[in-house]
Amino acid sequence: MVESSLTVRDISDTARWVAYFRALETRRPDALFRDPFAERLAGERGFHIASTLRDGNKHEWAWVARTYLFDKFVARAIEEGANLVVNLAAGLDARPYRMELPGTLQWVEVDLPEIVSYKESILGNEKPRCRLERITLDLSDGPARQRLFAQLDQRATKVVVLTEGLLIYFTSEQVGSFARDLAAHAHFQSWVIDLASPGQLKVMQRTTGRQLSEAGAAFKFGPPEGPSFFVPYGWEPKDIQGLLKTAAQLNRAPVELMSLLPEPKGTPGNFPWTGVCLLGRQ
Ligand SMILES: C[S@@+](CC[C@H](N)C(=O)[O-])C[C@H]1O[C@@H](n2cnc3c(N)ncnc32)[C@H](O)[C@@H]1O
Repeated sequence: MVESSLTVRDISDTARWVAYFRALETRRPDALFRDPFAERLAGERGFHIASTLRDGNKHEWAWVARTYLFDKFVARAIEEGANLVVNLAAGLDARPYRMELPGTLQWVEVDLPEIVSYKESILGNEKPRCRLERITLDLSDGPARQRLFAQLDQRATKVVVLTEGLLIYFTSEQVGSFARDLAAHAHFQSWVIDLASPGQLKVMQRTTGRQLSEAGAAFKFGPPEGPSFFVPYGWEPKDIQGLLKTAAQLNRAPVELMSLLPEPKGTPGNFPWTGVCLLGRQ
């Protein structure tokens, strides 16, 4: 039984929704990644959300391309010497259990208390492939996150930060101060984000966004500057990969969207674009 009539109760339920797509991918014989925990983590609620949220079970290709690109950027950062991965708003991500990782790698996950304790209840007895720690924190609390970032900066020489599916829920001002707080720490060398164009943001606000908004998880961030938004805050775009282009390369793009390729160069504006960007500190 799913106990609430609201499809999505709060922002943390979006983590169950994303886990649903990883569960679907894992079931495919030609899966691009396998997450053996995703089905359990998504749970009945994750499947319920996907089937009742408007467009909630569509665009599987985009979710899969996003996961694939984050995996690729994380693997590359580790190859290049990152010794701490900080996954902010990690939700139900299981990369520390499913990726090939050095046993010495430190990995810190941060999220809100309810989702962290739910995740612990499922993964508590499983063995991660690296040195994993989970921290509960409201990342919109500026002073609290500054204290956490300062502590993490002391713990490694090369830190890669991930925010997958987080920034879209913040306003531009909140994202700007978040970016500045990360850039304040010398060992925070790279940051992997996902980003929507203003055009894509509008589409998402009109569709799935309505119900999410009622649950306090409105879609807000899709800057007209594109990845250059981050430059004034100390972050330089180093590699930008569109989800549709990636899905096409992986033979996963829907035929009806192929006319949107090739993607426009520069800032995508009203073009419906979503991508994953690797930012490097300036
Ligand atoms: C769409 S989910 C993405 C989860 C995960 N990164 C993934 O891709 O599977 C968004 C996550 O952001 C977390 N979140 C949202 N606002 C937050 C905040 N202020 N502090 C900490 N976590 C937050 C939610 O709890 C949720 O786990």
